Amino acid sequence: MSSYPKEMQESIARVEATRPARLSTKFPRLPLPEQETLLKGFHPDYRPEGKRRLRVGPSWGESVPHELADLLEAYPLLDPKAVDVSRPDLDVDVLIIGGGGAGTVAAIWAHEVGIPAERILIATKLRHGDSNSIMAQGGIQAADRPEDSPAIHYLDVLGGGHFTNDPKLVRALVEDAPAIIRWHEDLGVMYDKAPDGTMAEIHGGGTSRRRMHSCKDYTGLEIMRVLRDEARSRGIPVLEFSPAVELLTDSQSQVVGAVLWNLETGEYAVVRAKATVLATGGWGRLHIQGFPTTNHYGATADGVVLAYRVGAKLRDLDAVQYHPTGAAYPDQLVGLLITEKVRGMDAQPLNRLGEAFVHPLEPRDVESAAFIRECLPPERGGRGLGVVTPTGMVGVWLDTPMVDIIHGKGTFQRALSSIYRMYIRFGIDPTVEPILVYPTLHYQNGGVVIDEHGWTGIPGLYAAGEVEGGVHGKNRLMGNSLLDYNVFGRRAGIAAAGWAKRAAPGTPTLAHVERYVGELRAAGIPPERKAPLLLPEYRGEKALARMVDLL
Ligand code: FUM
Repeated sequence: MSSYPKEMQESIARVEATRPARLSTKFPRLPLPEQETLLKGFHPDYRPEGKRRLRVGPSWGESVPHELADLLEAYPLLDPKAVDVSRPDLDVDVLIIGGGGAGTVAAIWAHEVGIPAERILIATKLRHGDSNSIMAQGGIQAADRPEDSPAIHYLDVLGGGHFTNDPKLVRALVEDAPAIIRWHEDLGVMYDKAPDGTMAEIHGGGTSRRRMHSCKDYTGLEIMRVLRDEARSRGIPVLEFSPAVELLTDSQSQVVGAVLWNLETGEYAVVRAKATVLATGGWGRLHIQGFPTTNHYGATADGVVLAYRVGAKLRDLDAVQYHPTGAAYPDQLVGLLITEKVRGMDAQPLNRLGEAFVHPLEPRDVESAAFIRECLPPERGGRGLGVVTPTGMVGVWLDTPMVDIIHGKGTFQRALSSIYRMYIRFGIDPTVEPILVYPTLHYQNGGVVIDEHGWTGIPGLYAAGEVEGGVHGKNRLMGNSLLDYNVFGRRAGIAAAGWAKRAAPGTPTLAHVERYVGELRAAGIPPERKAPLLLPEYRGEKALARMVDLL
């Protein structure tokens, strides 16, 4: 007995009718010129009304989404007169801002190369581990099979990013990857294995070899479980519910720590540090262009704002990653991640007539654009073949029963257990009926410019994970974010430790903030908006307007 409403059941009957023929045919991949046309016509990045040029700061004149520009062109949350930053409350060698994957890896490696645990501090906005890192489902890429190589992985990453990536960062990413997987295994991460004990590896969108290592469909959670244990076993201190609200600089313009704000008591703590690693994650909770998101509650682009105020350059923030398969029904699940692994295991996207309209594993931006074209009404250039739900959401089917039909009964529940559980709670069995999906805001493709050691170009300031940019160019491939935070978390932790061993930080000041405020005033920007945002805003008309412009 289906729990879908009647109108949706009629469309499901068409999906079932076309299934036998679809089992023996594959929708072809799009040639590059057609990919480009599709992107220009339907990807939200190509809507000029979604962006504006920055009026202040080192990336002045660059175009970014309005939601981010609003934060970069905002006044500080912290009143510089409210706290005497020249008298630190805490003094450490390495301060790590962010307690997700990148921050935890950076802390472990700073310790590994000789910084005593008590001279490291992880300060994090929510709890240790609350992050996009634990929400990653499908896997982590590493070229560790005989028919694959880091060079092939390198080409896939560049192709996926439309050749806009920083090649030296891509090289670091792919060359370190196999060693990261071995390190995880040594620490105790339980990757999926074939019966002969070798790694079970599948394809992701845009990969030319099977190199996706996974732990069922909670890969990020499993890796973070082990990394957090490792950091705790080493005795590295963690300050929870303590976001950074401003970085500190000395008279030489070195970054020398940060001001933390205790979310529970409202008190500030001034932390002086020889080196600071920004690992604050991404921006999903900015709900760019009104999209729902897969991201955790703290993904509000704080690190980008803080780094920009001390003079760090930004890149590729005009490119937003929409994951093609966000849940679109029932309403309680809207925007949540349906891992790409489902398509990697042969579930096909279909329109309301049960027709395939795109290869299941195009790079994410192309796949998302194809979904949007299928759903938009003809008067807006689309095909008008999406499925509309009783509350007016629109989406396409993901034919999930194909996973068990192709790979054997029980496969879905075994390999995709969290997706299975997510739907069963709402009476939908994804092994029997398809699920409805639509693109959802997933990842910050760009971010703070770094070199291959995670250095931002500002003395004393390093960045790792989703907050940095350049690795993925304008479009990341699946499985390269978990890899990114491990590779660059490690590199930034080591480099920050090296800097801390020779740095001589001066007296902390907020001089850069005063300068920035001067720029904002000179640009005529009124003082209403404050940043960093820290927590998303869900009140008011803007929140309710989400997705309506589609229909
Ligand atoms: O689809 C996914 O499982 C997401 C993975 C990623 O963004 O790398």
